[in-house]
Formats: sequence, C-alpha cells, structure tokens
Amino acid sequence: MSGDPRPVSGNPRPVDGEPDLVDGEPGPVGADSRGGHVWIDGRLVEAETPLLSAYDRAFQVGDGVFETIRVVGGRILELPLHAERLRASAAALEIPLSPDVGSTLRDAIGGLLAADGLDAPGLQVSVRATLSRGPVRSRNLLPPADVRSVLVVQAWPVTPPAPELLARGLHLAISAVRRDPSSPLAAVKTTSRAEFVFARLEARRRGADDALFLTLDGHLAEATSASLFLVAGDVLATPALECGVLAGTTRQWLLRWAGAAGLAAREGWLTPDDLYRADEAFLASSVAGVLPVTRVDDRLIGAGRPGPWTMRARADREAYAQREE
Ligand SMILES: Cc1ncc(COP(=O)(O)O)c(C=O)c1O
Repeated sequence: MSGDPRPVSGNPRPVDGEPDLVDGEPGPVGADSRGGHVWIDGRLVEAETPLLSAYDRAFQVGDGVFETIRVVGGRILELPLHAERLRASAAALEIPLSPDVGSTLRDAIGGLLAADGLDAPGLQVSVRATLSRGPVRSRNLLPPADVRSVLVVQAWPVTPPAPELLARGLHLAISAVRRDPSSPLAAVKTTSRAEFVFARLEARRRGADDALFLTLDGHLAEATSASLFLVAGDVLATPALECGVLAGTTRQWLLRWAGAAGLAAREGWLTPDDLYRADEAFLASSVAGVLPVTRVDDRLIGAGRPGPWTMRARADREAYAQREE
C-alpha cells in the first residue's frame, strides 16, 4: 500500500508485495528477508532450515490448526484465550494436543523473541503457532491413530498502520465465497485456508483491501482474518457466533468494552443493508486491532470516513494492548 490514502471514489488497485493493512504491516525489518529462527517441537532452528516432511498433513491436505497472537514489547496478549482456542480447534480435528499448551507456547514465544531480538520495549510482533497433524506416509484422508503432531511457532515484526491509512479506512468487497454456519468447521481455525486466500485475491482484483464473507443465506459473517462490527446509534452490533464466525479474542474484548464505553452490545443475524445503513463499521483482530471500514463494494459506510466510536475503540484497544501484564 502506498503512503497516500486512496480516494474513496476511485477504484484503486493494490500492487503486488505491498504492505498488508488488514493483517498488520510488516515491520521495518522485512520479515521475509530477516532470517531469524523458527521454534519447532521444543527446538529453535534457523528459519531457512528445511523442517517439515513432504508427508506433513498440513501441507498435504490442510490437516492442521493455528493461532495468530499479538506480542507487544515481549508481552503476549491474551495467551490463555489463544491457547484455549488452539485446543478447541485441535479437538475438532482430533489432533492430540497437551492440555498445558499455554505454557509450551509461552516458553516457545519467549525463546523465539529473545533469539531474534523481537522482545524490545514497544516492539509489535505477530506470532503464529501452527499445529499440524504431522507426517503420514499413506495418502489416505483418514489419519492413523499414532501420528506425532508437529507444533511450529514463528514471529514477524509488524508496524502499526500509518495514520493516513487509518484516516482512509478499509475498502471491502463482498466475496463470492459463502460461509455455511451449519458446517462443524465453519468457525475452526484450520490451516485449510484456500477459501480465504481465494477471497483475498478476489478482493484485490476488485481494488479492495479485504473480502467480506456472507452466510449461505446472505447474512453478514466476517472478513478473511478479522471480525466485523457495526455502530448504529448507540448500538454496537456484530454477527452472532451462530453465523459461522470465529470466536475472535478481540471480538470478545470489544463486546465487554461496549458496555463500559456507553454502547449497547448486540450479537445477531445482520444483513448487508444493516451494514450499508450503519453509522460506522470496523474490523477487529488481535494483531491489527480495530480498523475502520469506510467502503463496501461501491457503497460508502456512514460518512465514508472513520467514525468517532471506531477511533475510540481502536485507541482503547491499543491502550489495553500496551498495558496488559
Ligand atoms: C476468520 C477470522 N475471523 C476473525 C479473526 C479475529 O480473531 P482474533 O480477534 O482472535 O484475532 C481472525 C483472526 O485471525 C480470523 O482469522
């Protein structure tokens, strides 16, 4: 993304390799050229070392689960929530995972950040923990019972979005991919992300920053890596978990925040018309925090500028992220 805000009325076309506002912009040291380390099953190894078997199930069939976690100045934000969600995701696919994965992750992240100098005060880091079923020689879909799963932890420095990007807000495109809320996997964070990648490519072709998923029957769901919120009057609304959305950690925080901030929190079945009529809309995720949405396809949301509640939610969430012990 260039440094200049895009005009709301244009049809801007992002260029390849540009920073990603939705998932967190890369830090000053480009993650891809940084070298550094990867944590794998208790060992810290050079990031470029070949680590996984070609038979690895996450590679072969997307048989794995993951979490993306925010770290600020070496402090891991909401680790217990992420550990719990990783356990739930693993349980959905019957991938064995130790009940104390939280402490494993704490040690892994601590070691990795220290090795790569990513625990400096104020430094923002995105951590990904990926659990694969592990290597399986057979090509059957049904995994054998005795597979040894593989846990990998990686870290990337990120920079907060530039003020001009926050002032412009995100443009979303409604995806052709629909979410089926009745699917038992709809809200599980599996490594099978082809639909999400497809949706992001689709959004890019249409000059948007991110894609918005609707349910099969046309209700609002979520973006490719963030929860969706609307502000209408004094109500903060978000699609209910029954809409097949991820139980976002930031979503949970914002629903609590609303009461204290003076908004009535509602979870429910929302429609695109609710979004088009909303005063404000925003996305929310652990690493990127709260990001204003100012346009969906060819419609402006609210005044077409980030609204005051959105900016307050962002400021309050950032303050919380900086101070959480
Ligand atoms: C599909 C999806 N929805 C929502 C979220 C936001 O979840 P969280 O707030 O826990 O980061 C994510 C985060 O990765 C996601 O992938």
